[in-house]
Amino acid sequence: MIFHKPILFSAVQPSGKLTIGNYIGTMRHWSQMQNDYECLYCIADLHSLTIQKKNFSLKESILDTLSFYLACGVDPNKSIIFVQSHVYQHSQLNWILNCFSQFSELLRMTQFKIKRITENNYIKKTNVGLFNYPILMASDILLYQTNFVPVGQDQKQHLELTRKIAHRVNALYGKIFTLPTPLISQYGSKIMSLLEPRKKMSKSDINKKNVIFLLDDISDVILKIKNAVTDSEKLSKIYYDIEKKPGISNLLEIFSAITNKEINVLSKELEGVMYAEFKNMVATHLSNFLSKLQKSYIKYRSDESYLKKIAYEGAIKAQLKSEKTIQNIYSKLGLFSFFK
Ligand code: TYM
Repeated sequence: MIFHKPILFSAVQPSGKLTIGNYIGTMRHWSQMQNDYECLYCIADLHSLTIQKKNFSLKESILDTLSFYLACGVDPNKSIIFVQSHVYQHSQLNWILNCFSQFSELLRMTQFKIKRITENNYIKKTNVGLFNYPILMASDILLYQTNFVPVGQDQKQHLELTRKIAHRVNALYGKIFTLPTPLISQYGSKIMSLLEPRKKMSKSDINKKNVIFLLDDISDVILKIKNAVTDSEKLSKIYYDIEKKPGISNLLEIFSAITNKEINVLSKELEGVMYAEFKNMVATHLSNFLSKLQKSYIKYRSDESYLKKIAYEGAIKAQLKSEKTIQNIYSKLGLFSFFK
């Protein structure tokens, strides 16, 4: 008897430089997950079109992101690595799922609400793609009969919507989609800004001192960590308390992810250590980690023909898998097909 591994899907948008939030929230788990799951790692370039930027090359950013996938240990012989726009089935399913999603559901999406409002609380002009974004995400996931989706906390609501849409279609047409389960770690699933630790670290932050990018100069990484906000408790004890000590808790989450040590183990080890010394330790570990990652990234990024070969082979495999779901839903919906 053949036992198939559960299917796992994850993606990152190639819409700018990746941050340690992206890495710690999801990508750091990907290499290990290849052993236990059948993994699909997608570069969500169509999602990136929802925010149009000047002086930005999407093509370069796709190749940058792909290089980071490889540098993080994703192995094209074990996993399917592909670019979303190369697999047309994503857009095909997207239209169908639009017709099973409610306007009011999308209006409730926190990320949409945040992206729509300016810093001064004005409503921005937004494209329909930004509104529709979670349905394209649902299409990505449901196309592959995905069981698990490793993501950061900000994607939880999108996963709930994905399950709702899948359930709605299944209730009407029989079991077409597998209901996916999000994998969200207890720690590290919401890395916060360094200077404003009650706000999520985000690649689009205008204050770059809030964010550590995977390609930051190592000297900047050290400086950013040293300048990170802590708190003014008289007894500068290091322990995890997200409410009372958001800055220290955030640094602990970063430290824990990079050293692979549990937060409670670290808290014990750090007894008696002062804030400045703790920041030095975080800065040293993080900069050592990033300089290794950057070396590996540069090696992959310098070989574009290899990157394109991986993307091509991944797209072929992903098309084959996703076409099964498309054919199934087409026939259930009564859409006429020449291919049957
Ligand atoms: P993106 O590119 O915004 O984020 C990619 C992943 O990084 C996580 N993340 C964080 N985790 C912890 N702390 C942070 N500060 C932080 N910032 C970002 C996000 O939760 C995400 O897991 N829409 C998705 C991309 C996508 C996708 C999908 C994901 C498209 N289709 C299907 C899963 C399944 C996104 O937010 O990308």
